[in-house]
Amino acid sequence: MAKVNTGAALLSLCLLLACSAGGTTAADVDVEATVRTEVENAIKSNPGVGAALIRLVFHDCWVNGCDGSVLLDQTPSGSNTEKKAINNIGLDGFSLVDTIKSKLGNSVSCADIVVFAGRDAARYLSGGKIAYSVPSGRKDGIVSSAAAADAILPQSTFEFQQLKDNFAKKNFTQEELVILSGAHSIGVSHLSSFQDRLNDTTATPINDSYKQALVADIEAQKNSQNTQDPTEKNNIRDMSLKFQNDSGYDTTGVNTAAKGALDNSYYHANLQNRVLFKSDWVMRTDIKAGGDMAEYMNNATKWNNDFAATMVKLSKLPAEGSTHYEIRKNCRVTNQNQGF
Ligand code: HEM
Ligand SMILES: *[C@@H]1O[C@H](CO)[C@@H](O)[C@H](O)[C@H]1NC(C)=O
Ligand SMILES: *[C@@H]1O[C@H](CO)[C@@H](O)[C@H](O)[C@H]1NC(C)=O
Ligand SMILES: *[C@@H]1O[C@H](CO)[C@@H](O)[C@H](O)[C@H]1NC(C)=O
Ligand SMILES: *[C@@H]1O[C@H](CO)[C@@H](O)[C@H](O)[C@H]1NC(C)=O
Ligand SMILES: *[C@@H]1O[C@H](CO)[C@@H](O)[C@H](O)[C@H]1NC(C)=O
Repeated sequence: MAKVNTGAALLSLCLLLACSAGGTTAADVDVEATVRTEVENAIKSNPGVGAALIRLVFHDCWVNGCDGSVLLDQTPSGSNTEKKAINNIGLDGFSLVDTIKSKLGNSVSCADIVVFAGRDAARYLSGGKIAYSVPSGRKDGIVSSAAAADAILPQSTFEFQQLKDNFAKKNFTQEELVILSGAHSIGVSHLSSFQDRLNDTTATPINDSYKQALVADIEAQKNSQNTQDPTEKNNIRDMSLKFQNDSGYDTTGVNTAAKGALDNSYYHANLQNRVLFKSDWVMRTDIKAGGDMAEYMNNATKWNNDFAATMVKLSKLPAEGSTHYEIRKNCRVTNQNQGF
């Protein structure tokens, strides 16, 4: 387990200042335990932050590798950072990353915090069934571009071939695309990310009862969330009993009590045409991907294991594209820009 030995720093300070050894207690900060505690407490008070942290790993590591670039508000180049990308709509978890950073100080990179926090969210939201180790030692980059994030991240309107190509560029297989998409068992989406599915000119097959229930709920959400682009829950499992009944949702094999859980219920929903994104649905158009989805639907353990292994692979994508790497003092700005 990674430890930051603040003791050594305190000791040398004491030698310089000739202070008494008994005066200060040099505490080791246990990095991974600190991240885990902060993540679990945050999810307990705000369940939605867990989904945000898991998505953050994907959106950080896919663009320039795992380098904390998704966290930046400002870079030396002054261009719009990844946060401003259209594909990053709804991205969240930043203030929790700041809180964790404030507890860990200057020897832990923001990139490591993103990877550890996503890992701990996955473990917590799966009731401990998705548990994996990832190495530490990532460095933070100084490049972050909204245009690059929009060019590199996959979109919910992609065709199957586009999704496959997108994953292949990062050396991820079609099966790994199927596995990681299972993360859509949790969290929420904005209407703008799935409205193509509700429009007769652009719609890809979606169960009609589900679509009608969704359209009605969207109107209710526009009022209660007071916006024309409200969010809906990604997983029909997390919707009300009335919504599920109105949609004709078949709950066979789904643990409906486990609302908000990261599990294989995404495959049940997808194979019933009751998912939000076209990018989810299109995987059904491929015989091999459809078969893999059926396998994951029928074998929860297999998905837990394969999801964990693929998250490890994602968390190891090497940083690229920066001329210089550092451990940021503040996850939102490069060290060169501190104080601006
Ligand atoms: C395969 C291509 C993918 C596409 C096209 C896609 C697209 C999207 C979109 C459009 C949203 C909703 C954003 C919004 O409107 O607020 C979303 C949410 C989400 N995605 Fe994906 N995604 C993909 C893969 C992944 C992967 C690989 C992961 C993680 C391993 C992931 C995890 C999530 C999570 C957890 C949410 C919910 C976030 C929250 O509630 O804060 N997605 N995704
Ligand atoms: C590509 O992915 C495969 C399968 O996950 C892995 O075994 C291999 O090491 C990866 N290659 C590179 C160059 O990352
Ligand atoms: C449906 O999609 C078509 C084609 O993109 C667009 O012209 C039309 O405005 C959309 N209708 C609604 C109600 O959003
Ligand atoms: C929607 O699902 C219901 C219940 O499973 C089914 O009877 C109906 O045929 C489906 N309709 C469409 C258009 O998928
Ligand atoms: C469930 O749906 C059926 C029609 O599909 C409806 O008759 C019934 O009232 C619904 N029950 C609840 C509890 O919403
Ligand atoms: C489910 O997957 C696990 C892990 O891959 C495997 O060991 C087990 O045999 C599978 N169970 C069934 C019923 O196929």
